[in-house]
Amino acid sequence: MQAVAACPLGAGRSARGACSGAPDSRKFGELNFNAGETIGMDVSGKVAVVTGAAGGIGFAVAKALMAAGAKGVAMADLQPEPLAARAKEIGGLACPTDVSDEAAIQALAAKAEAAYGPVDLFVSNAGISPKPPRDDDNGHWAQQWGVHVMAHLFAARAVAPGMAARGGGKLVNVASAAGILMQMNSAVYTATKHGAVGLAEWLAVEWGPKGVSVAVVCPLRVATAMTADTPDSGTVRDGVLSADEAAAQIMAGIADDRFMIYTHPTAGAYWAKKAADPERWIKSMASLKQKLTAGR
Ligand SMILES: NC(=O)c1ccc[n+]([C@@H]2O[C@H](COP(=O)([O-])OP(=O)(O)OC[C@H]3O[C@@H](n4cnc5c(N)ncnc54)[C@H](O)[C@@H]3O)[C@@H](O)[C@H]2O)c1
Repeated sequence: MQAVAACPLGAGRSARGACSGAPDSRKFGELNFNAGETIGMDVSGKVAVVTGAAGGIGFAVAKALMAAGAKGVAMADLQPEPLAARAKEIGGLACPTDVSDEAAIQALAAKAEAAYGPVDLFVSNAGISPKPPRDDDNGHWAQQWGVHVMAHLFAARAVAPGMAARGGGKLVNVASAAGILMQMNSAVYTATKHGAVGLAEWLAVEWGPKGVSVAVVCPLRVATAMTADTPDSGTVRDGVLSADEAAAQIMAGIADDRFMIYTHPTAGAYWAKKAADPERWIKSMASLKQKLTAGR
């Protein structure tokens, strides 16, 4: 399946095939979008960290990085056994880690550096989405905030100053299309992924001028443990990618130094529609939700 055949809105499409979802024009109002342009990262010979790497998108990204010639990939996850097996499979370094714990993220960066040298690329990918969603549980709101937002901040604190001092590096934060649109069946996933996108924007503005490029990844549906046996929340019609297909889009976005990495180009088109007419957007989402949940 090739679900990324065309970019919406006359959007830019790079030679490497990544879809920006943004119009080609580089100037919006007073903002000069040509300012501070950087050159994409060639990951060969680079030291990377990938969280949530025991399966799904994280494992696929770690595998793609190794295949592209990364010097080493430190793979972090809460689940030590599948993590060890996956790391062995691709020659990565298994680092059992709870990413919502700042000291654990500091220790993860130190382990990666001790094994391979200073970290060039940190992919914050770990995520949670329990079945069924737990919007009534305040403890769970704190947990998703910790994994989807604070973990990204902890990673930036752990590695961005060193990257800047050495002349450059990259943070890739995996959020979700729910962070620009919504996850209709989960308030907590929607709100925390919006937090992740907002934080990534802030980090990009803060660290970009210091040489640390930041990207945020906003996938629609990808076939992983997270989505297995999960009802359609309105995204199946946009295509269900494999984890490897999603990782290929993330790798293309890294190579092209995109801030916004879509795995499915329709996400960008929906976001533009939402911005253009928020009232209509809310009404159409409410109507779609009623349709999808009728009879459930
Ligand atoms: N699958 C999709 O359709 C989809 C769509 C949009 C965004 N995403 C996002 O992509 C990322 C990867 O998801 P996936 O689909 O591969 O799911 P997945 O469940 O296969 O992988 C997520 C991994 O994160 C790990 N993890 C959870 N909490 C952790 C913690 N505190 N510390 C360390 N590791 C932890 C899990 O153990 C798991 O291995 C997530 O951030 C998810 O929200 C997924």
